[in-house]
Amino acid sequence: MPTLNWIGKESVINHHHDVPFRTLEQKYTFGEGTDGNKIIHGDNLEALKALLPEYEGRIKCIYIDPPYNTGNENWVYNDNVNSPKIRKWLGQVVGKEAEDLTRHDKWLCMMYPRLKLLQRLLSDDGAIFISIDDNEQANLKLICDEIFGAGNFVAECVWQKKYGPANDAKYLSNTHEYIECFAKDITQWKPFLIERNDEQLSAYKNPDNDPRGLWRLSDLSARTYSANTDYEIVSPKGKVFLPPKSRSWIVTKERYEELFKDNRIAFGIDGNGRPMQKKFLTEVKQGITPQTWWDREFASDNKIARYELKELFPNNPFDTPKPTQLIKRILQISSSKSSIILDSFAGSGTTAHAVLNLNKQDGGDRKFILVEMEDYAENITAERVRRVIKGYGEDKNAVEGTGGSFSFYELGEPVFNEDGYMNEKIGREKLCEYIWYTETRTPYATAIQPNKYLLGIHQDTSYYFYYEPEKITTLSHDTLNIISEKAETYVVYADQCVIDKEWLSAHNIIFKKIPRDISRF
Ligand SMILES: C[S@@+](CC[C@H](N)C(=O)[O-])C[C@H]1O[C@@H](n2cnc3c(N)ncnc32)[C@H](O)[C@@H]1O
Repeated sequence: MPTLNWIGKESVINHHHDVPFRTLEQKYTFGEGTDGNKIIHGDNLEALKALLPEYEGRIKCIYIDPPYNTGNENWVYNDNVNSPKIRKWLGQVVGKEAEDLTRHDKWLCMMYPRLKLLQRLLSDDGAIFISIDDNEQANLKLICDEIFGAGNFVAECVWQKKYGPANDAKYLSNTHEYIECFAKDITQWKPFLIERNDEQLSAYKNPDNDPRGLWRLSDLSARTYSANTDYEIVSPKGKVFLPPKSRSWIVTKERYEELFKDNRIAFGIDGNGRPMQKKFLTEVKQGITPQTWWDREFASDNKIARYELKELFPNNPFDTPKPTQLIKRILQISSSKSSIILDSFAGSGTTAHAVLNLNKQDGGDRKFILVEMEDYAENITAERVRRVIKGYGEDKNAVEGTGGSFSFYELGEPVFNEDGYMNEKIGREKLCEYIWYTETRTPYATAIQPNKYLLGIHQDTSYYFYYEPEKITTLSHDTLNIISEKAETYVVYADQCVIDKEWLSAHNIIFKKIPRDISRF
């Protein structure tokens, strides 16, 4: 398979492993209840890493809308990659093509490790949808082929972002963007059907008051010819019909007779035309298979997106919002009512808005996780979500709140220092939480008193974190009493162990050395 090469690629391929693992510091919760929705302020490279313990393999639907690298966005490459080539890019604004010939290299270096982490967060039946335009579409497709596997490519949807032409366009007026879609595992991902719109529903009628309800006509002739389905059909009014030239009917004569007896054959809508089959609305699939062409009617457009944001913020504080309808379509195609949805380039928070709206509409319980690096994470991203939850607008334009809640997080201290030791500044609770996650991949419940060393019991294994910041802890016959809970196996983290291996193994005790044996994400 062809792969893409660019300056710095060799340094970023494994960079996601080197990104420090930070804790998430909850700052506040807004709204009623604890829905589990999260808004994280911070660079998504570190935020995605911080999400791994709790969310690896659990995200059903990811939508991202990264900088398109248009040359006008003033985005800054800031990843701390250990490579001299890349370090000189640090903090530089990525400019226009003519000014900066490496802007595509920088963009690829920025995207690659983030996509790697996003891939790990996806559930086996999940999919990622990425908005992009011509600036990076071809490059993005190639790195996604590499990261997600070309075989997991689902589709490239074309979204009609605006209607009228820009008459001042230098060449052709660009009115579309793309949405690249990759499944984590194409054999396990299935799109949900899209409900029929009014126009599609209007094709179903019931002129003969059939008790089975609305129906539409469907062709009875096959595309090819087969001798055993080539016969004459005589209408109740005595008119004789043969299949169209070089074709036959789609059913045998016997099957036709059955359909006719069951009043499933109509001769045109008025009873005078060619024989057709009646397709009842109640019997066809509950929706339409999603298509790759997303016009304004289906997914709305940029003008509506700006209008939606203006309704919430009259001074329009954000230039490039997406319409909620576009994200609603992605959610309809790729999420169930209980899915977790992640957007790690959150901007004005449209994804959360779309999730809350859809939950309200269909009684769903989808959760959202947003990540936004800029300081407006609080006063635009989170503020938008607050307004959607509470309701907004005035008088006849008032929009009722969706209800719900979210918690706002900042990125905390790294769990490990640069020399690989545990960072004691993060506190015992966070260290316990981290180790519990690495062992069990389940959420941590606070230490069970009075044994402060017991992390918990999972699948008949009890876990102990025998750690004291001020002294060296030793697992010995004298300190074995820290093991307080009966289980099949015991895992004990301590600074050192003086019991011999055979004795430990005979008693199903696994010793893990701090910090050497603590897994790193
Ligand atoms: C095109 S906007 C997304 C717009 C969004 N879809 C909406 O509807 O409002 C991209 C956003 O990603 C944010 N961003 C860029 N790099 C980021 C990073 N490394 N970590 C987190 N956010 C980032 C930018 O600050 C910007 O708000």
